[in-house]
Amino acid sequence: MVVAVTAIYFRSNIKPHAANGMEEADAVGPAALYLPPDTSQIRQSVHAALIWYGRELIVNTRKYLGPDGIVKQVSNQLNCQNCHLEAGAKTAAYSANFLGVAPNYPLYRDRSGMMETIQFRVNDCLLRSMNGKRLDTASREMKALVAYILWLGKDVPSGAKPVNSKIEQLSYLDRAADTINGKKIYAVKCRLCHGANGYGGYSIDSALYYPPLWGPGSYNTGAGMYRLSRLAGFVKNNMPFGVNHGESQLSNEECWDVAAFINSKPRPHKLFPNDWPDLSKKAIDHPFGPYTDGFSEQQHKYGPFGPIANERRKKIN
Ligand code: HEC
Ligand code: HEC
Repeated sequence: MVVAVTAIYFRSNIKPHAANGMEEADAVGPAALYLPPDTSQIRQSVHAALIWYGRELIVNTRKYLGPDGIVKQVSNQLNCQNCHLEAGAKTAAYSANFLGVAPNYPLYRDRSGMMETIQFRVNDCLLRSMNGKRLDTASREMKALVAYILWLGKDVPSGAKPVNSKIEQLSYLDRAADTINGKKIYAVKCRLCHGANGYGGYSIDSALYYPPLWGPGSYNTGAGMYRLSRLAGFVKNNMPFGVNHGESQLSNEECWDVAAFINSKPRPHKLFPNDWPDLSKKAIDHPFGPYTDGFSEQQHKYGPFGPIANERRKKIN
């Protein structure tokens, strides 16, 4: 049976962004939201068992691959789903879902300076977001993750960049993000679930798992979320838990500040010295030098980012 592609175009409520010097700057053009196939379709695939296992690994990563993992011990206290919500299939805009992978990989990325396979990209999140180790590409677990991610994007036309697979690039503040204001926002909007010490844990009244935002069980300093723009854009459209694009409870300013507070707290430190082999392409908010500009690591971490972006634009033009 052929299943029709479901693409919904929202021209009014999702505005394309102008490129602003961030590597993930959204392309200009109609922003397309794609819907994932229904899981009831998985059984039609010859790889059904593998795809289901892949989905299970995304949802319950810790159980299988965490510090006490029943299959291997290669990841931390997080589940892939803690960031790639709803098993990587959340449909609202800017949900960091996996629908853009099948139509775009292998993909050239500035961070590695090479064409990346899906396996390479998955291992990147294992090494950084999951502060762990690579999975062997031949392992059943890697095959399952890839099978599920490919299945999710199977109906997305080649080259399309679903807006729900992205993290929103919020406009820059004209000041540095403020950890003190961020701490206040955290107390009101986040602490209830993620805890006073940021370590998360299980809620008392439900089986819901609140992931750690900092501390030994969280993402390391090489992770995408350690860049302020990624964390702020994620929070804007997805947190507090249950929020979707268009329903944000926080202003952009509050998102930058709470992100600054979270990323000012201790977490596993891991350097990836081979990142951005072309330094002029290094993400503006990557807080570790060397850089091709004269701005400090502090400014590359908390901003103000405008002056850094302006100088880069001058160099390119
Ligand atoms: C702490 C948050 C976090 C966790 C946990 C996490 N990731 Fe990611 N992942 C990210 C971020 C941030 C990006 C980059 C998104 C962006 O910048 O648009 C990303 C990107 C990806 C991509 C590329 C998506 C694309 O469209 O190019 C894949 C594939 C991926 N992650 C797989 C995984 C898998 C598999 C796991 C679990 C083993 C995982 N991630 C766990 C934060 C996380
Ligand atoms: C109602 C409870 C709740 C509140 C309040 C809440 N979160 Fe979350 N948060 C969650 C849950 C649950 C997840 C994991 C989602 C999943 O696995 O489906 C999560 C995931 C995250 C993640 C990605 C995983 C990680 O550990 O890095 C970040 C970042 C995050 N939250 C930040 C925040 C921030 C910032 C606030 C406050 C503005 C906030 N959250 C408020 C429940 C909450």
